[in-house]
Amino acid sequence: MLTDNHGRKISYMRLAVTDKCNLRCFYCMPEDGLNWLSRAELMSYEEMLHTCRLLVKMGVEKIRITGGEPFVRKDIMPLLTGISKLDGLKELSLTTNGVLTAPYVPELKRIGIRSVNLSLDTLDANRFFTITRRDEFANVMAALDAMLSHDIEVKINAVVMDGKNIQDIIPLVELSRELPVSVRFIEEMPFNGDGHVYDGLHWDYLRILDEIKSKYPQIKKLDDPAYSTSYNYQIPGHKGSIGIIAAYSRTFCGTCNRIRITPQGELKTCLYDDGVLNLKDLIRSGASDEVLQHALLTAFNHRPADGWEAERMRVARTGIHESMATIGG
Ligand code: GTP
Ligand code: 5AD
Ligand code: SF4
Repeated sequence: MLTDNHGRKISYMRLAVTDKCNLRCFYCMPEDGLNWLSRAELMSYEEMLHTCRLLVKMGVEKIRITGGEPFVRKDIMPLLTGISKLDGLKELSLTTNGVLTAPYVPELKRIGIRSVNLSLDTLDANRFFTITRRDEFANVMAALDAMLSHDIEVKINAVVMDGKNIQDIIPLVELSRELPVSVRFIEEMPFNGDGHVYDGLHWDYLRILDEIKSKYPQIKKLDDPAYSTSYNYQIPGHKGSIGIIAAYSRTFCGTCNRIRITPQGELKTCLYDDGVLNLKDLIRSGASDEVLQHALLTAFNHRPADGWEAERMRVARTGIHESMATIGG
């Protein structure tokens, strides 16, 4: 079993396959986008597959593909197919904004993807445009329909933003009445690519829960799965469930089993660190698997205890300003 210096199991890797995105969500990046990474700066298909193969051999059991938006990457299906065949991998999943996803759903199902996390912050087409700066609401809803009709488990991610989508909390909860989805409300984090000033957390997980409880006093706590980022609830009679992710409050670090690889091949042992090892550079320098494995194990032995310590240890010391699209969430 792969463990870190705090005795936590490491079994889950999040691989961000691109920094590019076809939306411009206000909480993630500026309207003009980012200085996109060049093709040479991105890990190649082979480098990604190599990294996944090695980490699965070392003990990773679950891989989540993220971005940017994964489906913006042209070789995404061959990459997913290649990863899905790795011996020892128990679960492959992805997080998508749904814009391009619907046509791929039958193929996702065929290669064994059982669950997908879908970003959707509002059920109102106009507010969707205000938040994402793109008119793509209908395509996202089509992706949701396609996934549900193919029996793919869906978790909906809604970032809770003061002054932007508070009025969407209850309609999103209502979505769980007839649909077997998990609707997760996420604390907004400062990873917005400097698109706007982050003036502190206005809606923490307790306030979000209070807001939901005020309309649904009968809400029940569910048991949370191991390593869950969300506190999970159900409104009696609803087919789906509700989750709240304390992503900024960082209350779940004690059981964190995740590592991340950014699109430029940087290893992050915590969402809040600023990269601890560049795997792509090591691979390109011709490092053997033994050398790579040794470097990875050294990094796992120096993991910060939690996201607060990781934030304090950031080498750049410039505070958090990068876009979530360069991390993968
Ligand atoms: P599963 O547990 O695999 O379903 O995924 P998830 O909910 O962790 O992943 P997803 O990509 O759907 O992310 C949902 C939200 O949780 C995003 O805002 C992520 O940034 C946040 N999140 C995911 N992992 C972590 C983590 O390790 N720490 C913190 N603070 N937030 C995280
Ligand atoms: N704060 C919280 N969550 C964010 N995400 C993107 N940017 C932020 C942010 N600043 C979420 C998206 C996506 C997930 C991977 O990360 O909603 O679903
Ligand atoms: Fe794109 Fe996701 Fe960032 Fe929105 S949150 S801009 S969908 S990467």
